[in-house]
Amino acid sequence: MLTKYIVLVVLLHTTAAVIYELNESDLARMPPLFHLDNYEECLQDPEGLYCMTETLLVSDEPSPLLTMIQEYAAHRPTHYNRTLLRHGICVTKTCKKFYENSKEDLRSALEACANESLYNNYQLRGRVLEGFDCSKPEKSKPLDNLEITVAGICAAILVVNIIASFCDYYFKKKTSNGALRYLYCFSIFRNWEKLVAPATERKEPRPLGLKGLHGIRVINVLLTIGGHALILDLRFVENPEYIENLFMYKVLHILLNGTVIMQTFLMISSFLLVYHLMLASEKHTLSWKMLPQQISIRWLRLTLSYALALGLTVTWFGRLASGPNWQKMVGNEITDCRRNWWRHILYINNYYTDSECMVHAWYLAADLQLYCTALVVFLACRTPRARKITLSLLFVAGAVIPGYHTYRQKLDGVLVVYPEFLVKIFMENPVFDYIYKRGHTNLIGYVVGMSMGYMVYAWQKAGGDPTSFRKYRYFYWTLFPMGCLCCLTGSLYYTHSPPPTPFIDVMFAAFMKPVFSIIIGTILVGVVIQFEDLYRPIVSWRGWTIPSRLSFSAYLLHIGFARNNVAAVTTVYRTSLWIMALCIVKVILVSMTAAVIFCILVETPFNNVVKELFYGQKSTKKDKKETLVDKDDHIVEKTDKLASKLLDEVANDNGFIRKRLVRSS
Ligand SMILES: *[C@@H]1O[C@H](CO)[C@@H](O)[C@H](O)[C@H]1NC(C)=O
Ligand SMILES: *[C@@H]1O[C@H](CO)[C@@H](O)[C@H](O)[C@H]1NC(C)=O
Ligand SMILES: *[C@@H]1O[C@H](CO)[C@@H](O)[C@H](O)[C@H]1NC(C)=O
Repeated sequence: MLTKYIVLVVLLHTTAAVIYELNESDLARMPPLFHLDNYEECLQDPEGLYCMTETLLVSDEPSPLLTMIQEYAAHRPTHYNRTLLRHGICVTKTCKKFYENSKEDLRSALEACANESLYNNYQLRGRVLEGFDCSKPEKSKPLDNLEITVAGICAAILVVNIIASFCDYYFKKKTSNGALRYLYCFSIFRNWEKLVAPATERKEPRPLGLKGLHGIRVINVLLTIGGHALILDLRFVENPEYIENLFMYKVLHILLNGTVIMQTFLMISSFLLVYHLMLASEKHTLSWKMLPQQISIRWLRLTLSYALALGLTVTWFGRLASGPNWQKMVGNEITDCRRNWWRHILYINNYYTDSECMVHAWYLAADLQLYCTALVVFLACRTPRARKITLSLLFVAGAVIPGYHTYRQKLDGVLVVYPEFLVKIFMENPVFDYIYKRGHTNLIGYVVGMSMGYMVYAWQKAGGDPTSFRKYRYFYWTLFPMGCLCCLTGSLYYTHSPPPTPFIDVMFAAFMKPVFSIIIGTILVGVVIQFEDLYRPIVSWRGWTIPSRLSFSAYLLHIGFARNNVAAVTTVYRTSLWIMALCIVKVILVSMTAAVIFCILVETPFNNVVKELFYGQKSTKKDKKETLVDKDDHIVEKTDKLASKLLDEVANDNGFIRKRLVRSS
């Protein structure tokens, strides 16, 4: 009895203990975390069966080795859960005798097989978790209806593109009337020209260096895509300790906490929204009537491209690669998307936690939700006083809400990108689910962006002079390092020490995003009012404009490529910084290339059509009228057009998309 008690106390004590570091020889004593039997060879046998298993290490007798592994795994922020082996097993070879004995119960066969090899090598046993998936030699899957439909839609779009381009080429100079106008929306020549056109500085009604936003957007998109590529790539490595070691470097913590950069997209989006609405309100009285109109335009613009990307994700993307990881990396997403596609079309997908479907699209949902909120706020608050009060309240709410969630749900203060998070592909991380991707928890970026929009507008209207800010430029230049420092503070979550207290968690949740948003927001304002010559030339570089226009398409498509890239892996490999860099570059290049095609053939044409639908009719009527009316009226028409152009931009800017305006007149 007493001995039992002591054992219990010791057990309780040991499970609470954490080992932060182990030397190489201790690490080598552990069973390999990732392992893959030869996949090709296994499935060459027509009877072959290959299973991806997750085996939890257990032991009947007290095992110092198991205790060590458990204590090492207990440091979640930087260590893999090495008690859970992720192995790909060729059942018909490695576990032949167990498989033949108990064909009906595959799990028992796998477990007995694991038990034997684990016991022989490590004196440990294993429990194979439910939910393993197996593949057999593939008989090429027949096409299903959905795949044929999506292929049909793509073919139809392509045909329209080609016809439109031919018509455009032959009747170039002819006036475009009626249906032809819609056809020309699809002209590859026109859409290519739009893509490569130089960025226009806003001259009318007031100059503003919006060109610089291209650079900021591209840098953010590249970081995001690269980060995603890396997150998805870091599995089935031979040397997980290499990755665990990388977590020791402070520089990396900046990148790990760099997940707050998504606030930048939200800020750009809301800044442009408010700024353009204010300009438009000079010519137009903005009424509540515009609310449904602006929202439908934006919804249509996003959704047409998004729906096609979703369609491709659930059908043809799945056929790009096959391999032992296919089910986990691609198959699950397809199943979830086929079931939950409607959440994406309604832009509520970021409030669900049970779906692997296009997880990255949380941003589009959060952005649309915040866009609607911002429009309501804009229309409701017409006086500077009302705006100040409302925005201050919203700012406080934006800080308090994440803090409150963190407090109530006992969450980490930042999104900790720990190694298991990489293996689980964004799933099962409560901070990601309840704070990172929701709309109301990202309010802060939008509020800061809106305030910037009002301020820049008011400053310009009062005849603001950029040179008067020049004396602040040294302070301004420290902002970028300060943003990095702000991210660096999150390194508290990756240190070799017990996790921060709940109080610190709440402080981080409440203040990290506001501080970061204000720093980046100030940089943004500095870039658009053009008062200094260090940051502005960099982000206003001509070369950013094209990738910036591609950023929406690239964002939609990149996860598909990253997932397939990993699904194709059939052996564990040794990773290193160099290999990671190559992987990032590979996914970025493929995504950008695909984005060029998608942007020209799909995104831009659909945008043009929506524009024609909502603004086109008006402007052609005016075109005709313009020739008849007198001078005064002409001016009215022109300003009207400008206002509708501005409104058009309002519906268009979502942090990713900022199309150059076509000067059709
Ligand atoms: C590794 O650490 C263990 C104790 O944890 C020690 O016994 C062993 O000698 C060390 N090995 C090396 C190579 O330093
Ligand atoms: C490791 O994974 C197992 C199985 O999912 C789980 O029970 C255990 O709590 C995990 N360990 C850590 C430290 O997360
Ligand atoms: C594997 O070993 C564990 C622990 O000894 C045991 O509980 C389990 O029944 C074994 N599995 C099989 C299929 O023999």
